[in-house]
Amino acid sequence: MSTATSQTAYNYKVIRQFAVMTVIWGVIGMGLGVFIAAQLVWPELNLNLPWTSFGRLRPLHTNAVIFAFGGCALFATSYYVVQRTCQARLISDSLAAFTFWGWQAVIVLAVITLPLGYTSSKEYAELEWPVDILLGIVWITYLVVFFGTIVKRKTKHIYVGNWFFGAFIVVTAMLHIVNSMEMPVTLFKSYSMYAGATDAMIQWWYGHNAVGFFLTTGFLGMMYYFVPKQAGRPIYSYRLSIVHFWALITLYIWAGPHHLHYTALPDWAQSLGMAMSLILLAPSWGGMINGMMSLSGAWHKLRSDPILRFLVVSLAFYGMSTFEGPMMAIKTVNALSHYTDWTIGHVHAGALGWVAMISIGSLYHLIPKVFGRQQMHSVSLINAHFWLATIGTVLYIASMWVNGITQGLMWRAVNEDGTLTYSFVEALQASHLGYMVRALGGAFFVTGMLLMAYNTFRTVRAANKAEAEAAALIPAEVAH
Ligand code: HEM
Ligand code: HEM
Repeated sequence: MSTATSQTAYNYKVIRQFAVMTVIWGVIGMGLGVFIAAQLVWPELNLNLPWTSFGRLRPLHTNAVIFAFGGCALFATSYYVVQRTCQARLISDSLAAFTFWGWQAVIVLAVITLPLGYTSSKEYAELEWPVDILLGIVWITYLVVFFGTIVKRKTKHIYVGNWFFGAFIVVTAMLHIVNSMEMPVTLFKSYSMYAGATDAMIQWWYGHNAVGFFLTTGFLGMMYYFVPKQAGRPIYSYRLSIVHFWALITLYIWAGPHHLHYTALPDWAQSLGMAMSLILLAPSWGGMINGMMSLSGAWHKLRSDPILRFLVVSLAFYGMSTFEGPMMAIKTVNALSHYTDWTIGHVHAGALGWVAMISIGSLYHLIPKVFGRQQMHSVSLINAHFWLATIGTVLYIASMWVNGITQGLMWRAVNEDGTLTYSFVEALQASHLGYMVRALGGAFFVTGMLLMAYNTFRTVRAANKAEAEAAALIPAEVAH
């Protein structure tokens, strides 16, 4: 593009690249989700090969959906939002390009090493030390590009969406570096620097805040830009957004021990984690209400705008999963839910209902803009996608609630003489129907993603270069 190097236009190229890869990784990562869900129904699908076994494909699924799909969505939207709200081009095209290619390299290395069985065995941090180092370098570059752009902004204040994106970038860097402290023994094997209960605590400080900052705070950054934009209304309360921000980041960091209830972790730490999780309900719902209420005066748009529906329903699922989470953090509830499919249902209420839906809605808003089109190729396909995604999510989480509570109750049932009423296999048999319904729900969700891929393909093919260049121009007059 002729304006690509000029300072009078935004850098849309890197956004286009990340946006397209979000859709591609979404189809792959969620397709893998359906495959491993099917393995739990028909174990023959493990194919009797180590590389295709559930144990190796499961971390591939989590890495592909969280870091490849979710990560690309966060890069695309944060680069879009930071440029438009700061009215400034990203500080460096080459550093931005490095984040794109570096991030894709990390994902490809995950796709190769995880099925081969190379793993640090820390959940959501499975990648071995050479990939960890690459990931760290890419992430610090992202931090420099993002904050560098904020520093050279032409607007007076920093829009609240950027606060959320900024916190997500800084905290993710901190979590990754601290949790990945490891001693390499070979090129593909390392051991954690921490030991025993300390190792577990560091891991779940990382794991929970990966949820809190990667899967929540970053996506709240998306919410604060794309919900008001799509609704054509200002954010409901700027004051609430500031309280929301500080309360959320102050509380999240303490809640990690709820992953380690009834373990060797000191009891006071478990109780602290539980208390902080309960308090976390308040800022979570404050944020959800701020997003929802931004629709005041625009609710009628929901009838005709499937993109807005994606965004609003994602907020409803966010509210639901952030109510469920604090409940599951209560020690007596966790005694029932832990190790069961209830946790898996909770995860996907957040992952499909919140993370995926807000990303999909934001991308349907963003893709036409960066490819110089008025709107996506087909609005009715967006509508069909919306229903497939919503029904798929509901099937997934409802089946996992039923399975989870059934499993929890069967495992703890005891006869009068103190022996267990049910064997493990009986609880597994009782879960079979739920696993089928979950796989069906997943298939619905992936079908929706395939519609999105087709819709994106048609929109990109019809891209209008001149329009895209015009849309990328930075306004000369800066509004304060
Ligand atoms: C079509 C959609 C999806 C399907 C069918 C699916 C299926 C699955 C299955 C079968 C598991 C393993 C459950 C077990 O071990 O019992 C799993 C785990 C997981 N998935 Fe998905 N998934 C989907 C989408 C997603 C998305 C979009 C995300 C994140 C953005 C996600 C994040 C996770 C996480 C974090 C876990 C690990 C949960 C835990 O350890 O508690 N999934 N998924
Ligand atoms: C106030 C907000 C939240 C709280 C207090 C919370 C609390 C919890 C609790 C208590 C567990 C179960 C731990 C266990 O028994 O092992 C859990 C698991 C999990 N939650 Fe949440 N949750 C919240 C929101 C969310 C959201 C919005 C998402 C996703 C976007 C999410 C993703 C996860 C994941 C991935 C796990 C499984 C971790 C694992 O064991 O692998 N949570 N959460």
